[in-house]
Amino acid sequence: MGSTDPRSQLQFSQVSVDLILPLRHRMLRQGMPFESARFPGDADDATVHFAAVQTADEKAVCCLTLMAAEWEGAAAWQLRGMATALELHGQGIGRQLFDHALSEARRRHPTWPLWCNARTSAVGFYQRVGWEVVSDEFEIPSAGPHVKMVYSGA
Ligand SMILES: CC(C)(COP(=O)(O)OP(=O)(O)OC[C@H]1O[C@@H](n2cnc3c(N)ncnc32)[C@H](O)[C@@H]1OP(=O)(O)O)[C@@H](O)C(=O)NCCC(=O)NCCS
Repeated sequence: MGSTDPRSQLQFSQVSVDLILPLRHRMLRQGMPFESARFPGDADDATVHFAAVQTADEKAVCCLTLMAAEWEGAAAWQLRGMATALELHGQGIGRQLFDHALSEARRRHPTWPLWCNARTSAVGFYQRVGWEVVSDEFEIPSAGPHVKMVYSGA
């Protein structure tokens, strides 16, 4: 009997930014030029990109990026570019990729907090995986309403 869990067909690992750009573009910069999916800092030494990659075709179906960016004046990780392919939403892939990235982040810098600018439409996801809202709502011109969140889990 084959497994029906799509996660069994996925590899969760650190990847190159080029592997995740098509997914980032499709999910986070739709209708904008492809190059708008590149973020300042993508190529920095401290930046790490993670993805859930389909073993069948080596395409990324979930992605996130961790960048070194201060939080309240101290060294921290900023989570950016979190997205799961639309057809795979709600199957636990985002949670699994975040858990993978979190353990890597902790291994590299055990004391660094994690923060992000979260789209208000994604706040529920972040809360489910251990984050909390720490700001009022604000607007990012290319991406709509956001709030600042910090990871408050173990
Ligand atoms: C936000 C996003 C990455 C979540 O990915 P996902 O793979 O669907 O998430 P998961 O299936 O792992 O969800 C984990 C939990 O969060 C919940 N959840 C997921 N998206 C949610 C949302 N938008 N609002 C509320 N809860 C949500 C799931 O129901 C699940 O709950 P459970 O713990 O009870 O099972 C995905 O919806 C997405 O790509 N959205 C569009 C891009 C985007 O807005 N990214 C965030 C930019 S800041």
